[in-house]
Amino acid sequence: MEAVDANRISRGSYIVRCIGCGATAGDLAPDFRCKRCGELLEVNFPGWSGDDDFHADRLKAIWRERRTSNQTLDSSGVWRFREVLPELDDWSSAITMREGNTPVYDLPRCARAAGVDHLRAKHQGMNPTGSFKDTGMTVAISFARQNNFHWVACASTGNTSASMAAYAARGAMRSLVIIPEGKIAWGKLSQSLDYGALTCQLRTDFDGCVRVLNDIIRRHPIYLLNSVNPYRLEGQKTAAIELLEQLDWRVPDHVVVPGGNLGNNSALGKAFLEMKRLGFVDSVPKISVIQAEGANPLYRTVHEKAGRELVPVEAETLATAIRIGNPASWQKSLAVLQATNGCVEQVSEAEIAVAKTEIGADGIGCEPASAVTLAGLKKLVRTGFISKSESVVLILTGHVLKDPEYTINFHRGELSVPRMADSEFQSLTKLQQRAPVVLDASADAVLGALQAHEKAERHG
Ligand code: F0G
Repeated sequence: MEAVDANRISRGSYIVRCIGCGATAGDLAPDFRCKRCGELLEVNFPGWSGDDDFHADRLKAIWRERRTSNQTLDSSGVWRFREVLPELDDWSSAITMREGNTPVYDLPRCARAAGVDHLRAKHQGMNPTGSFKDTGMTVAISFARQNNFHWVACASTGNTSASMAAYAARGAMRSLVIIPEGKIAWGKLSQSLDYGALTCQLRTDFDGCVRVLNDIIRRHPIYLLNSVNPYRLEGQKTAAIELLEQLDWRVPDHVVVPGGNLGNNSALGKAFLEMKRLGFVDSVPKISVIQAEGANPLYRTVHEKAGRELVPVEAETLATAIRIGNPASWQKSLAVLQATNGCVEQVSEAEIAVAKTEIGADGIGCEPASAVTLAGLKKLVRTGFISKSESVVLILTGHVLKDPEYTINFHRGELSVPRMADSEFQSLTKLQQRAPVVLDASADAVLGALQAHEKAERHG
């Protein structure tokens, strides 16, 4: 096995290319859109081939070996795969918190609930700031610093901002967070405050925040860290590579991903397709995107317009992370659905809440936006898109502690969901609610509660 040399320059030289007109971008515009046609950009590696440098067996061995290395870059679950990432001028300048390296769990109870033989989840909420955003952030913010930016900024539903604020602090940079007032889970808001971001809560929704930020970056030198930034998606794609590695390069039949701004499924799809192109695997999983019914622009785009044009919506869901009506990466996402033969599904607030408790009951837990994956899987099994014996991996995107208010209100029966009568929601979810029991401070009282619980379980 050859020694790992962090500064070895691979032949993975990249270009940044427009997904619309195909033009190669030189200097990137502050909004990361094509200067010619306004579409999004993506990173491309024209020099890749299956030759020695990119030989699948060789890279698999190098990446595996790095898992036992204590070097900073190797112990990141993102930079460990640097041969297939855009190259920094100096690898050692990467701003990293050893992100990635997230576990794959079996979910036996959830498998039964969904009606599949076997179900696994890759828990991206186990990243340093508690969401999948860290994998993209480490790459994009490292490029921000390489380009001598002092300020970075994002519009966010909470997780991107938490991640950006942390990485900016690690890199001694300043960060500007633009979030919709009152629509951010407390865990996420508290993170950006502690990490020292300038946090602006605007009286609008996420889509309004994006509009304001686009104006700001035209008027001030600030590096944009939303997922329109193609370097973000390069980092996020490593979760798919890591997943394949964890499955010993056996490709699952299906990967199910929540959809908000639609960057993540685009990134994962890009990675699976690249791994196939490089000969690491000979097929790709079907990638399916799940949206909340109240924030379903991709679902509507596919079902009402056959994918020809985006159907923006006024987004409303308690899964605040995906409360997005005008997703930036819808075209990238559609391309991934088509290339992998995946599909898009929508789920109700009650289905999300029930699925969240089921993931919790497997001892894993996640935030509401991640639970759409299990809720969506159940539907896809019912419609026959996924069959019982197929292998499925859910991508859980955020940690259960991101949004404790949702969880507590749910179990207390106090969650009020948009566009549904409280009584209807309660009757659909009552069985999953486990409110805390308030008792006198005596062993008898607690043992009485325990016995009542056992009895209810026997009869339930
Ligand atoms: N799950 C969680 C927990 C998220 O925070 C997000 C997006 C998504 C899923 C959807 O991913 O946007 O790539 O389709 N959160 C963004 C944010 C928008 O600002 O934190 P996507």
